[in-house]
Amino acid sequence: MDKILIKGGKPLNGNVKVSGAKNAALPIIAACLLTGGSHQLQNVPLLRDIDTIKRIMSKLGVTFRDEKGTLEVNSDDLQGHEAPYDLVKTMRASILLLGPLLARYGSAKISLPGGCAIGARPINLHLKSLASMGVDIYLDHGYVNASVGQLKGADIFFDVATVTGTENIMMAAVTARGKTVLKNTAKEPEIRDLADMLRSMGADIEGDGTDTIIIRGVEDLRPARHTIIPDRIEAGTFMIAAAMTGGHVTVEGCRPEHQEALMEKLEAAGANIKVKEDSVLVRGPDTIESVDLKTMPFPGFPTDLQAQFMALMCIAKGWSMIRETVFENRFIHVSELRRMGADIEINGNQALVRGKDRLFSAPVMATDLRASASLVLAGLVAEGGRTEVQRIYHLDRGYEALEKKFKNLGANIWREKE
Ligand code: EPU
Repeated sequence: MDKILIKGGKPLNGNVKVSGAKNAALPIIAACLLTGGSHQLQNVPLLRDIDTIKRIMSKLGVTFRDEKGTLEVNSDDLQGHEAPYDLVKTMRASILLLGPLLARYGSAKISLPGGCAIGARPINLHLKSLASMGVDIYLDHGYVNASVGQLKGADIFFDVATVTGTENIMMAAVTARGKTVLKNTAKEPEIRDLADMLRSMGADIEGDGTDTIIIRGVEDLRPARHTIIPDRIEAGTFMIAAAMTGGHVTVEGCRPEHQEALMEKLEAAGANIKVKEDSVLVRGPDTIESVDLKTMPFPGFPTDLQAQFMALMCIAKGWSMIRETVFENRFIHVSELRRMGADIEINGNQALVRGKDRLFSAPVMATDLRASASLVLAGLVAEGGRTEVQRIYHLDRGYEALEKKFKNLGANIWREKE
C-alpha cells in the first residue's frame, strides 16, 4: 500500500493540466454496452475506478484497447450480465451497468453497493424508475436481479435529483419503446457529456442540463467516438490548493463555466481569479477570509469539493459555517484535519470551522477519495515536518498522478510504499 508524504510550506506556482472527468468517463464507458462495434473514447483518465469498471465489463465479454490516448471499447460479444460483489464493493458506480445491460440484454445481476464512507447512498430511485419502465426486480442474497422483455418509455419523477440515477435511466431509455420523460433530473455537466455520447450513438435525447430530459426510444444505436469532458473536481482541487498556499497557478484544459460556484467562493475568500476560454488562473491571497458554504447539486457548490474547501477554511481568518446537504455523513475528513490542528465543530450536517494561523504535520488517513484530497491540501501548508497521508488507494480512485502534478507546481511531495 502506498502513502504520500508532504513537507508543507511551499506556495504552488506554474501550470497544471486537468485530466478527463472520472464521473463522466464511468457512465460513458458503461454506455458502450448498449451496442456492439468499436467505440473510441478520448481523454479517459488513468484511475483505479476506471480500471474497476473495465475489469467488470471485461468479465461481461467487453474488450478494451488503449492506443495513443484513445480507449477502444468493443462489446460485440457479450457473454454475461453479472457484476460481482468483490468488484462492486470497491466502486458504487458499478450500478451504472444496470441500465445499459437491461437495454442490451434484457437482464442484469448486480451486487447491491451497500453503504459507504460518505453515507447510506441508496439506489431506490434507480430501481423504482426501472420498475416503471417494465423491469421485474428482486433483491436476493445481496444482489439486484433485474429482467425485462422490452423496456418501455415512462414518465418518471425523481424525488431527489440523483446523478447516477439519471444516467442509469437515460441509458435504459435510449432504446426503450416510446417516450421517456425524466423530471427533477440532475443537471451536472457529466449528465450532458453522457447525453452527447448517447446522441453520437444515435439516441434521441433533449433537455439534458435542465431538470427535464426527454428521450424518444430508437431501434438501433451505433458505436461512437467521444472525448470526455475535463474533471471539474480535479480542477477545483488545484484551484483551492493555489489559494491555500498563496500560490499562482494556471489550471489548464478545464471548463471555467463548470467552476462558477467555486470561483465565487474563492474570490470571497480573497483569491484573485482570471478566466480564459479553457483555463483559470488563481492567485492566492495574503490573508484567507472566512466564507460560509452550502453544498448543492450543480450549478451549486459541489459536495465533491466540500472537504477540500474546508481545508482552506481551516487557515482562514475568522469562522466559517459549512453545510453539507447532498450526503448526510460527509465529514470523515474532520477528525483527521483536527489531528493537524484544525478547530472544527460538527453539529448534524453543519461544520463550524474556526480558522487557525497554521496547521501542523501529522500522520493521517481517510476512507474516502475527496476526504483524502483535503488531507493532501492540508499537508501542503502544514508546518513542522512531514505529513504522511496513508491509504492512498482512495486518492488513486479519482485523481490521476496527483502527487506528480503537485510536484510540478513546486510542492515538496512524494509517494512511498508502506
Ligand atoms: N439518493 C437517493 N436514492 C437514490 C439515489 C440517490 O436517495 O436512488 C440520494 C443520495 O443518498 C444523495 C442524493 O440522492 O443524498 C444525491 O446522490 P446521487 O445519486 O446524485 O449521487 P451518486 O450518483 O451516487 C455522484 C458522483 C459522486 C458525487 C454525487 C453528487 C459518480 C460516479 N459519483 O454520485 O461522486 O458526490 O454524484 O454530486 O458520478 C466522487 O467522485 O468522489 C463522488 C462521490
